Amino acid sequence: MAPIYSRIIATGSALPERAVSNADLEKIVDTSDEWIRSRTGIRQRHIAADGETTGDLAFLAAQRALETAGVKAAEIDLIVVGTTTPDIIFPSTACLVQQRLGANGCAAFDVNAACSGFMYALGIADKFIKSGQTKKALVIGAETLTRMIDWNERETCVLFGDGAGAVVLEASSEPGIYATCMHADGGYKELLWNPVGVSVGFKDEPNHGVRIKMAGREVFKVAVKTLDSLVGETLEAAGMHEADIDWLIPHQANLRIIEATAKRLEMPMDRVIVTVDQHANTSSGSVPLALDYAVRSGKVQRGQNLLLEAFGGGFTWASALLRY
Ligand code: COA
Repeated sequence: MAPIYSRIIATGSALPERAVSNADLEKIVDTSDEWIRSRTGIRQRHIAADGETTGDLAFLAAQRALETAGVKAAEIDLIVVGTTTPDIIFPSTACLVQQRLGANGCAAFDVNAACSGFMYALGIADKFIKSGQTKKALVIGAETLTRMIDWNERETCVLFGDGAGAVVLEASSEPGIYATCMHADGGYKELLWNPVGVSVGFKDEPNHGVRIKMAGREVFKVAVKTLDSLVGETLEAAGMHEADIDWLIPHQANLRIIEATAKRLEMPMDRVIVTVDQHANTSSGSVPLALDYAVRSGKVQRGQNLLLEAFGGGFTWASALLRY
């Protein structure tokens, strides 16, 4: 029997309308455009409007991906949403999106792997398709991370933004996703976390203490080292070499982390998709937003090999090597 591959047949994305520049942030917190750009590469981020939710962005991104694919919602038999900022505790954002799309009946669930959420969701959906259980899957990464930010905390507030991206995956005899890798190490949990919730309780603080806490310099070091070995592992799993990769589509957290991974792959920066300057770190939204930009701008062409990777709180890290 010929192997079953999952192929990305279309992409879509959604960003909140409001873009906030570094100069805008200078007015509310002790920072500067120069500091933000030189340390992170970020120039602006999009911020969800009052009442605009992760589910709203996920729905729009999914709708655009389905329209581009020419696939009806009723044909989808799996929806996986990577998110760490669901609209409500339950039902999952995947169920909320499913209902709005009219895809009722198919399996739908969320994956919380922080910034690696979309990469985990893609890896899981790939396995569903390879098992023969799923023919068409909708995989979404969506976040409203700015809801977990203290705008007085300059160490974190300049880094994040909101947004969503989606792909339609289809079972095919043509490649396809060649390899996916997924890892986590909860031993690092305190370097990047949001330690409030249903069981441990909330706090008598603004926004009930819901905010990201991060040891930036330590996260940076582990991210660079971990992504270095992740891309090597992914190439090996796919039986490929650095020179086989046409495009690196990395998690968009920090331009310096992206440059370090590109160097490891011996890839010039003109073969790396960079959107961190426009979107900042949108967590699970970041890789599918970058992918949709790469496809719609005409950079990524059918038949090219793409290496997607992400790293985030947990720590979690995950990747996919695929032919687009
Ligand atoms: N504006 C101006 N100054 C700031 C600032 C801001 N927004 N945030 C921090 N600073 C200051 C610090 O207070 C520190 O001041 P000090 O030297 O007087 O103590 C100084 O800038 C340098 O801080 P440092 O931590 O050395 O900066 P850095 O070069 O490590 O860059 C990060 C900081 C957060 C940008 C960087 O560590 C990073 O990107 N880490 C990874 C974060 C990440 O990607 N997280 C998500 C993973 S999914």
